[in-house]
This record gives sequence, structure tokens and C-alpha cells, in this order.
Amino acid sequence: MQSMENTGKDMRIRIVKNGPYRVSGNVPLTEKIIMPIGNHYVFKEGRVLPQSENYLLCRCGRSKNAPFCDGAHAKSGFTGIETASMLSYEDRAEFLTGPEIDLLDDDRCAFARFCDREQGNAWELTDQSDQPGYREEAIIAASECPAGRLVAVDKAGNRIEPEHAPSIAVIQDPERGVSAGIFVKGYIPIESSSGEAYEARNRVALCRCGRSGKTPFCDATHILVKFLDK
Ligand code: FES
Repeated sequence: MQSMENTGKDMRIRIVKNGPYRVSGNVPLTEKIIMPIGNHYVFKEGRVLPQSENYLLCRCGRSKNAPFCDGAHAKSGFTGIETASMLSYEDRAEFLTGPEIDLLDDDRCAFARFCDREQGNAWELTDQSDQPGYREEAIIAASECPAGRLVAVDKAGNRIEPEHAPSIAVIQDPERGVSAGIFVKGYIPIESSSGEAYEARNRVALCRCGRSGKTPFCDATHILVKFLDK
């Protein structure tokens, strides 16, 4: 349930040219830690972060006060040119069919690994969704993808989306020894530095290492460059 003062209607993320993410509208901010349990993953709560109406989140990966911007982007000459497609998810995603459930996949992977379940990953579970319990597991594997890469689609063509209130989480990934991206939930509008709007989505992952090839979205480069925010 959202509180009265937190209805999401004024929430916004604006990308500052060659600079941070400017977040406005009292968007709740948390830190979450990716934890393995058996063959799947869960989130554990991380540090308690200060809450405010407006704040700047580091996009360049060089702040000494992460996850917040401390001005290091200007001193380091960060360019942060946005390279991601502005096309909608529907236009970018591939449609994969299974016997009892289908899957949309736009290949924008933040390497959160929530597509892994005990019996297999989202693609394997979709392929074998006529096995007992696999359809439900395929839906969980797709729905828990925080990057929104995967969306389960039922045989009537309905997309299955979890209910998320608007929020932002900065991610730590100790299993890989890195800090990961910024997970944005609940259709918060994201505006490019040119003023153009990206498609508002229920789940999306933004880059905060400054090195993604699909800026502003996370493409898991933080693992390759061993990004650590502290
Ligand atoms: S974007 Fe400002 S310090 Fe990184």
C-alpha cells in the first residue's frame, strides 16, 4: 500500500547530461543485497539510506559518497552519452513460446540472476511448462527479473506483471564481489538528458558504474569492470 504523500504521481528520474540521475517526488530509496539460496536468489536489506524529496544518484561510478553524486563526474570528465534504444519493450522484445506459458525477452540483462529457480532458469522452465509446477516457476522466474528483461505471457496473451509500488534500490552483489545497478520499480518516468522520455516500466535497471554499453540501462558491465561503490 502506498501512503497518501507517496502516490507516485510526481515521481520522476531525470538524467543530467554528463552527470547524475536527478530523482524527484519523494521516491523511497533502499539498498538491497543479492543473496543465493540453493539454486535461486533473494534480496536481503542493505544499509538504511537517507530519504529525501529530491536527490542525485551517481551515474558515473566515481562518487566517494555512493550511491549519491558528489560532483566527481565533472572532475573526471564523465560523458555518459545515452546509447540505449528508445523503442518500446514490445518493439524490442523477442517472443518465445512454451507449451503452457510464453515469454517476452528483450535481452537487456543486469545479471541479477533472479531468472534462476531450483528446477532451471526462466527459458528452461518456459520450454517445459507442461511439467507439473513448471508453469508457475517460469512465471516467478520472469516476474522476479528486476531489469524487466523477462515478462511471462499467458496463453490468452495477458502479460503477467507483479504489483510494485514506485521505489528505487541500489544493489550490492557480494557473491560476485561487485556493486550492481539501480533497480527502479513501479513505472517511475525516466527522462533522457535531451528531454525525451523512455518508456515508463514496472521494472528497469539503470547503470551506476558509468560503463554500460546500453546507457542509461544496466548491461552487467559492472561485473566485467569489477565496480565497487566503496
Ligand atoms: S554522477 Fe556525480 S559523482 Fe558520479
